[in-house]
Amino acid sequence: MNTREMFKRAVAGGYAIPAFNFNTMEQMQAIVMAAVETKSPVIMQVSKGARNYANGTILRNLAKGAVEYAKELGCEHPEIVLHLDHGDTFELCKDCIDNGFSSVMIDGSSLPYEENIALAKKVVDYAHQFDVTVEAELGVLAGVEDEVAAAESHYTKPEEVIDFSTRTGCDSLAISIGTSHGAHKFTPEQCTLVNGVLVPPPLAFDILHEIEKKLPGFPIVLHGSSSVPMEEVNTINKYGGHLEAAIGIPEEQLREASKSAVCKINIDSDSRLAMTAAIRKHLAEHPGDFDPRQYLKPARENMKKMYIHKIVNVLGSDGKLAQQ
Ligand code: G3H
Ligand code: 13P
Ligand code: ZN
Repeated sequence: MNTREMFKRAVAGGYAIPAFNFNTMEQMQAIVMAAVETKSPVIMQVSKGARNYANGTILRNLAKGAVEYAKELGCEHPEIVLHLDHGDTFELCKDCIDNGFSSVMIDGSSLPYEENIALAKKVVDYAHQFDVTVEAELGVLAGVEDEVAAAESHYTKPEEVIDFSTRTGCDSLAISIGTSHGAHKFTPEQCTLVNGVLVPPPLAFDILHEIEKKLPGFPIVLHGSSSVPMEEVNTINKYGGHLEAAIGIPEEQLREASKSAVCKINIDSDSRLAMTAAIRKHLAEHPGDFDPRQYLKPARENMKKMYIHKIVNVLGSDGKLAQQ
């Protein structure tokens, strides 16, 4: 399914739909198990890097399998969107639209304003012929987009959002209010030490609320929303890893954002951390194991636990399937 009705209900209901990236079968399984157990709609998203890693044909068939798997697990009416994350060209978006994706993101956020509009509009005009929904982005996040963008991140300008959404016809808008990609979202110097914990500066809720006023009820998306749980980072470091100064977005802030027009929250790094922590722990404790199933099973379990936690305790999308 596409995101249209899903987002309408999420904005009205004050919760957000989880958008989890996947590259492997184990991530797909964990996402589906978590969504079924919590009766949550879910967006499974594929990046260009995921397509390069796993092959686009394999990933979209995994997503088809995900729907069948959800039914097999007892969910009669699963709500699963297959979404292209950070599409950077019309051709990539078209390829996904032509091959069964129900939603795409065209990320022209690093382009000059008018070029971003022209590219997003071209994708929207094509996608809407096939009832595929389109996410576009205004404002630049730090992290992954730095590869294609200026080194500086900058917040979305509320004065541009009406013009941008009207002229592109996009179905949802990703904004920049202080989140960023990856597991190192802030330097320790940018944080305040509270009870031994580094607390990052808050998200720019003032900008979010201004945007909401300009576009009442319009679906807003937050990228870069992993919270980088300390317990996973500590496990990774305890069992031979070396992750320093990994800092994410505090979950209370994402919980607050979920109650607003933010109706899609992107989480990838937390899944990577959950998987790596479980694998490192398993292999350190079972040095004789060499069957991948022995360490991928606990990795899958740990990701599933994390996804359930996000759905129930952070985004509030549990129990929100239209047909239970
Ligand atoms: O926003 C980016 C996602 O985390 C995907 O990352 O391009 O390394 O697959 P990736
Ligand atoms: P994180 O790196 O914070 O998980 O963000 C993922 C994301 O925005 C995918 O588009
Ligand atoms: Zn992103």
